[in-house]
Amino acid sequence: MDRLSDYYQALNIELWQQKQMGNVSELPTNDWAALKQCVASCTACDLYQTRTQTVFGVGNEQAHLMIVGEAPGFNEDKQGEPFVGRAGQLLNEMLKAIHSTREQVYIANILKCRPPNNRDPLANEVQQCLNYLNQQIQHIKPTLLLAVGRIAAHNLLNTKSSLESLRQKIHYYGNEQTPLIVTYHPAYLLRNPIDKKKAYIDLLFAQRTLHNLLAAKSA
Ligand code: URA
Repeated sequence: MDRLSDYYQALNIELWQQKQMGNVSELPTNDWAALKQCVASCTACDLYQTRTQTVFGVGNEQAHLMIVGEAPGFNEDKQGEPFVGRAGQLLNEMLKAIHSTREQVYIANILKCRPPNNRDPLANEVQQCLNYLNQQIQHIKPTLLLAVGRIAAHNLLNTKSSLESLRQKIHYYGNEQTPLIVTYHPAYLLRNPIDKKKAYIDLLFAQRTLHNLLAAKSA
């Protein structure tokens, strides 16, 4: 029996679906600690062989705004926290621009493990790992999702449209139809600072949309 199955058994977790040994299975969404443990011991794709550690997510479990990036990079793999490198510093600044902080929002990635040399995630890696992100979204129930970058936007919206064409619109994600806005990835903005102005416009759009959604909820 593999380590993941041992873990499921020890916690008496009922498997809803287990495609094959080592694959990601759906967990009860209310058990955050169990979900964290499952991610930490995941062997569902080959990335477990090269990771230092998994990167689950960080921030406020009651957050109204949830940010979804691509995958851990070198620093995130070492520290076990998303967006802690240069791109993370810029993300912190982007949040500051809308009077928010990383402690107020929740930050997670499409992938929980670093792809070697920061290559783009493979389709099977995304397929396995998206299950975890979905569990996180179902637990946090954010009012608004902010997908940063092409990889997050394409995988969450199941599209290959240009990032430019996805900006400045409210999309909807998953069974819960959670409102979702797209903007540039901070690592892209470090390479293309000319687009920081557009990212700022997107952040203001996200801030305004969140405000409106919260007002509509409490009305
Ligand atoms: N880029 C991402 O998309 N996520 C991280 O956690 C770090 C860099």
